[in-house]
Amino acid sequence: MNKIGKEFIDDLTGLYNRRYLYIRAPRKIEETQETGIPLSIVLIDLDHFKNVNDTYGHRRGDVVLREFGIFLNSLLRADDTVFRYGGDEFVCILPNANYEQAKMISRRFVERCRIKEFAQLRLTMSIGIASCPLNARDWTGLFEIADRNLYSAKRHGRDRVGVFEKEKRGLNIPIKEIIGRDEEITRIKEFINPVFSGSGDAVCVSGEVGVGKTRLIQEIIRDTDFQDVQFLNSNLSATTKSIPYYPFREIIRCVIKEHGVESIKDISQAYQIELSKIVPELSDKSKETDEHIFIVDKFRLFEGVRRFLALQASKAPLFVCLDNIHWADDSSLELFHYLVRTLKNNPVFFFFVYRVEEAKHSSFQNVLQLMAREGLYKKTDIEPLKTADVARMLSLMIDGIPSSELTEYIYKETGGNPFFIEELMKSLDTNGAFIWDKDKCVFDKGKKVVIPYSVEGVIDRKLGMMNKEACDLLEYAAVDWQRV
Ligand SMILES: Nc1ncnc2c1ncn2[C@@H]1O[C@H](COP(=O)(O)OP(=O)(O)O)[C@@H](O)[C@H]1O
Ligand SMILES: [Mg+2]
Repeated sequence: MNKIGKEFIDDLTGLYNRRYLYIRAPRKIEETQETGIPLSIVLIDLDHFKNVNDTYGHRRGDVVLREFGIFLNSLLRADDTVFRYGGDEFVCILPNANYEQAKMISRRFVERCRIKEFAQLRLTMSIGIASCPLNARDWTGLFEIADRNLYSAKRHGRDRVGVFEKEKRGLNIPIKEIIGRDEEITRIKEFINPVFSGSGDAVCVSGEVGVGKTRLIQEIIRDTDFQDVQFLNSNLSATTKSIPYYPFREIIRCVIKEHGVESIKDISQAYQIELSKIVPELSDKSKETDEHIFIVDKFRLFEGVRRFLALQASKAPLFVCLDNIHWADDSSLELFHYLVRTLKNNPVFFFFVYRVEEAKHSSFQNVLQLMAREGLYKKTDIEPLKTADVARMLSLMIDGIPSSELTEYIYKETGGNPFFIEELMKSLDTNGAFIWDKDKCVFDKGKKVVIPYSVEGVIDRKLGMMNKEACDLLEYAAVDWQRV
């Protein structure tokens, strides 16, 4: 506090005063605009402080405030500053803290305060926070929101960090409802139906990355019509391509996870041995078999997997999904082809999913042609969403009606690809392009927009010049099924 003039210091507590706050805060906020590092302001109010003055007199009240000021100061990090706003109100500026971090820090304040004495008195505090750029980008806006949050803390019983209902809102991503896929769902359900009378089939779901292939399947198997079925999933990626039989290893593991290793005991031992070569935990001496992993008796393995799946299907209809199958190794593709062909009389339904743009250069393409010639599967191609669906998706994300400007902008940049829509919306959000004004989410199109890397990557990809990082990001876009 050395270089600061007396006029900026609060006499009672020795903290900075409101006058200095008005100079300092806008400057700090400006800095964050330049650096892009978030900043939070924390508004603190002592609960029922008036009672202290009324009951114990103003002198005691002053001691409380002074001790409270010291206490606040002791809790702050080096770059944080605290100001006495007036009476029993204080403001902290936390540079380098976003809303969530500020919330954590504030909760700690509240907890510490609760167990501390000020002039031998126990007091609690209420807090309201606002963050830049999340809630607002100028002092007035931030203060208003922090004040509303503080009021909410008071109304909800004090001694807490308040959250004004509207501030709880952010974007809903991913949205709960599936958009614009009624036809696809109906069609696939028709393909599935014969499974319930005991016959097997397969459906191929294709489309560009992020178009919603995985989501569509998740939606279908979540359907109440399919509650008494078993679902086995395997999600492939570029990194699993080099692992022989990876998808089937995952699929068998799904069963083991559900029913234990005993689930394999009903097929004869010769087949068990073969399966344990690709799923080491099935064998008693896992070390030994690990080395034998590549010396599988292929036919016996294929037949073993077939019997294993048939056995599972005899208990309840079985759904097997190979997601991003274009990344399967050649042996897996061969096994897959074999299974689809030989399980036609068992209630086993295969989903297999591929990205059109990746499959072009993979051996999967040949297997696909072969299987098509034999009429082994049905096909559904997934297209990006239409404008009306994009508008609907946005309305669920922002929980309100999107302006036509926003819808058009998003549609233009993403071509209706749901994954890109999510990424772009997230990026707009973190760049402060949305302002939540009362009930509405206002899109500030003047805000500089950063097209997310993932979206840019695909544009590059279309130009055939995608770099390694963008590839990784897209691969990462393979939704992990653990969430199902
Ligand atoms: N029809 C849809 N309605 C709502 N959200 C969707 C829809 N399709 C995809 N999404 C969302 O977009 C993201 C990417 O979808 P995903 O199914 O993983 O794409 P893909 O498997 O085709 O690469 C996910 O977060 C998903 O929830
Ligand atoms: Mg997917």
